[in-house]
Amino acid sequence: MAPQPPPADSYAELPYPSYCHPLTGVDGLCARGRLFGLATAPTARCRVLELGCASGGNLFPLAELWPDSRFVGVDRSQTQISAARELAATLGSRNIEFLAADILDLDPEALGRFDYVLCHGVWSWVPEPVRARILAMLPELLRPAGLAVISYNVYPGWHMREVVRGLMVERSRGLASAGAQVVRAREAVELVHASIAARRAHIGAEAPSVYEQAFAREREVVRRLPDAFLAHEHLEQDNTPVRFCEFAERAQAAGLAYVGDAELDTMVARDLPPDTLAALQAAAEDRVGFEQLLDFVRNRELRHSILCRRDANPRAEIDPAALETLRFAQHSRPLVEISAATLRPETAVVFPLHGSDDERAGIRVSDPLTKAALVELCARWPASVELPALERGARERLAQAGLELEGDPAQHRAQLCASLLECLLRRALSVRVCEPPLARSLTRPRVGAFNREMAARTGWVAGLDHQPFMLDPTLRHLVPLLDGRERPALLTALRELVARGALVPRRDGVPVLDGPQLDAALESFLQASSTSLARLPVLVSPPPVESAGGE
Ligand SMILES: C[S@@+](CC[C@H](N)C(=O)[O-])C[C@H]1O[C@@H](n2cnc3c(N)ncnc32)[C@H](O)[C@@H]1O
Repeated sequence: MAPQPPPADSYAELPYPSYCHPLTGVDGLCARGRLFGLATAPTARCRVLELGCASGGNLFPLAELWPDSRFVGVDRSQTQISAARELAATLGSRNIEFLAADILDLDPEALGRFDYVLCHGVWSWVPEPVRARILAMLPELLRPAGLAVISYNVYPGWHMREVVRGLMVERSRGLASAGAQVVRAREAVELVHASIAARRAHIGAEAPSVYEQAFAREREVVRRLPDAFLAHEHLEQDNTPVRFCEFAERAQAAGLAYVGDAELDTMVARDLPPDTLAALQAAAEDRVGFEQLLDFVRNRELRHSILCRRDANPRAEIDPAALETLRFAQHSRPLVEISAATLRPETAVVFPLHGSDDERAGIRVSDPLTKAALVELCARWPASVELPALERGARERLAQAGLELEGDPAQHRAQLCASLLECLLRRALSVRVCEPPLARSLTRPRVGAFNREMAARTGWVAGLDHQPFMLDPTLRHLVPLLDGRERPALLTALRELVARGALVPRRDGVPVLDGPQLDAALESFLQASSTSLARLPVLVSPPPVESAGGE
């Protein structure tokens, strides 16, 4: 595709909305490295570099949670780096620094070595020399057990998307500003979409063609994407998808090894029936070849690959023994009431998948100890639990239900580990190495300074698991006030919000704006909001606690 001359600084005109990306969460990477046999540095004490950090929305929440770790963000957009530095000054951040520099000009020796290098939304969207430089620098930038995570666009998913990108680039060619290009590109998509349908009607074709369906799907994506994403995805001068095996080959040639996908579930393919899986495995020459085949099966369009130095020698398979060094967390309630009857081995209970709203999708669990462990985790959420404590809690639950486990305790433990691994690989569970500083009480609710600032500025906050959340309008007013102040001061601030019309508390659905019932209405609003913020989890209390396996 012929490139178009870019606007002078498209990131200055349309800065990238900068917020956290869960698959680059350092604790998740740390845990994944351990699963593949690497002695990754604990999140609470590590050094992190982000290449193409925009205005720091991915690094700030990490830096705030882990004050003993050090963070460096690099971006060539002076506008975005200035915004990041201003925010760092406002927040009083001491463990984060920002460099305005081109990746091509970086000197790895001067930067030093890192435990984690994050490169999200950059690799496919830069010219070839920058792509090559990123991979070439990593062996020098990474500590011996260090990990890099790189996201990039892949084929075959991008084949169809490129058709619409081609149209958008073609029609917006030559326009001087990124904003004008976006407007013209959107118009072009609408015009062609309507024309394809009109042509079908005109020639009397009954069903939409495969092309029409694919175009309509991409048009929906374009309609939903905010201008800044569209400018820096579809209209970016460089947007070069690759096949996964090409990426893996390039990484290997640069002295790196492929550890695994940040989305573990995509590697093991539990979405395929066993005979299909076996046929694909038999057809693939190696692990990379197998995952490449899976990309064709799923029409994959984006990957987050975890890499390490080749001399780190990651395992080819997940090491189940690594579970002993991890903490487990999950918040999904089972779809049935848990009782002595449902805990029994003859009853399968469905636990919904992590992050899925679909109640029907889920993992069916029969093993009593595993069911009790998952219920225990749900009760403890947002806290995570180490394996020995989890097993103890699960056994207590079974005992309370009058169920006794017969047979060898070691076998029960082995079955529990196997089931937990399966849950992890099916997204019914998440793992941590270091526990973030979760709030232990709701009396003086506190949200970190970065999230308070973001709530007021954009409405986006970063969960302590590095998940982004958009707050509803009421919480956007409340969160900036949650700095751990005493209850009376908080209630005074809330009354001011009510007086300004920014908050409308209700009792039994009826607005209460003044009078003796106001305090009670504000109390219950505060209680409900703090509970939901604690569950996200967004509420913090210092200091951070590290797991026994965290070293
Ligand atoms: C699409 S944005 C992604 C930002 C952020 N990592 C994210 O995913 O939200 C790409 C970023 O890479 C930066 N960038 C592009 N080319 C670069 C280069 N050669 N050196 C440094 N930064 C670069 C851009 O300025 C921009 O902030």
